[in-house]
Amino acid sequence: MRTNICLFLFAILSSAFACKNSGPKQDEEQKPTLSIETADFGQTQEGPAKLYTLKNENGMEVVITNYGGIITRLLAPDKDGEFTDVVLGFDNLEDYQKDHPYFGAIIGRYGNRIAKGKFTIDGQEYTLAANNGPNALHGGPTGFHKRLWEAKETEREGYVGLELSRVSEDMEEGYPGNLSATVRYLLNNDNELLIEYEATADEPTIVNLTNHTYFNLKGAGKEDILGHILMVDADYFTPVDSTLIPTGELRPVEGTPFDFNTPTPIGERINAEDEQLTFGLGYDHNFVLDREGPGLELAATVREPTTGRFLEVLTTEPGLQFYSGNFLDGTNIGKYAVQYDYRSGFCLETQHYPDSPNQPDFPSTVLRPGETYASRTVYRFSVKP
Ligand code: BGC
Repeated sequence: MRTNICLFLFAILSSAFACKNSGPKQDEEQKPTLSIETADFGQTQEGPAKLYTLKNENGMEVVITNYGGIITRLLAPDKDGEFTDVVLGFDNLEDYQKDHPYFGAIIGRYGNRIAKGKFTIDGQEYTLAANNGPNALHGGPTGFHKRLWEAKETEREGYVGLELSRVSEDMEEGYPGNLSATVRYLLNNDNELLIEYEATADEPTIVNLTNHTYFNLKGAGKEDILGHILMVDADYFTPVDSTLIPTGELRPVEGTPFDFNTPTPIGERINAEDEQLTFGLGYDHNFVLDREGPGLELAATVREPTTGRFLEVLTTEPGLQFYSGNFLDGTNIGKYAVQYDYRSGFCLETQHYPDSPNQPDFPSTVLRPGETYASRTVYRFSVKP
């Protein structure tokens, strides 16, 4: 009798299991869990710009334009499953074509500052435009953020992706050599946005690519970011002079407002009396990441306590520029007619250290013919109430 009951139960359970298995399979066939859509975004001097929307099965969306490789919108869930756009930016192409603080853009050829816009390779001196006080910043006035990129969908197991590429010609913005650059944005069902950067050159040159997205995990530009709780896995940072050029020193963070090894609200020490905070008007500094090898490693996490949104940043890069939006001053009106006030967004720019071409002790940013520059960063979104 007991055997019969067991057999009966087994039959019921296995048929239920079979049904359960066949259900989602059919759904999967009907509806792809990862998708990409294209829309027009307007005209640029170099041709028409498009918007590409990457979506995953959880409802996460990342919208990118091939003008500047800019991330224009990123929907991430909060603790109640509510999706909100957590990146600053504009809702039209014209505003991106004007001057703006690099919202969401690919930065190149050299992310961050180069002192006096000068550097030397193999004894040959090069001069870049001084577009930030006496220094060169973020690849120059018409850097990678202001160029139209060739775009195509890219296939990768478990991801939906967009591949952007362009050739930056010899002496574009003052940099030597023809540089072929490719940037891939890839989204998976673990809510990870993977960014891959690659470049090759036909002459010795320098390269340091990054992405300049401003995040606000409460929602794009909503209030300031001072309550966000930041962790940076770094025992040292690179202190700067008053023009934000590194002095060359690697300074321990211990005992300073730059120690984020224990998660700490961004606003807790931002107004402390500290010469470095005075120079940056807050945080605008490169952290020397604690690294174990060349692969993707966790560099930083940010938790927004009211929404529970949690961002993890992983990278292959040696440095991370943490910028607390100190130069946002309300002059930019972004999407949803939101005014971007002081410290209403923060950037976590994975990169080599600022001014590396003039700092022989910093990891090198020189790229020579025959070599491939390759860098990867992941922005992973989840919830941690
Ligand atoms: C720099 C800031 C600069 C901002 C926007 C950041 O990467 O570190 O100093 O104001 O970009 O240009």
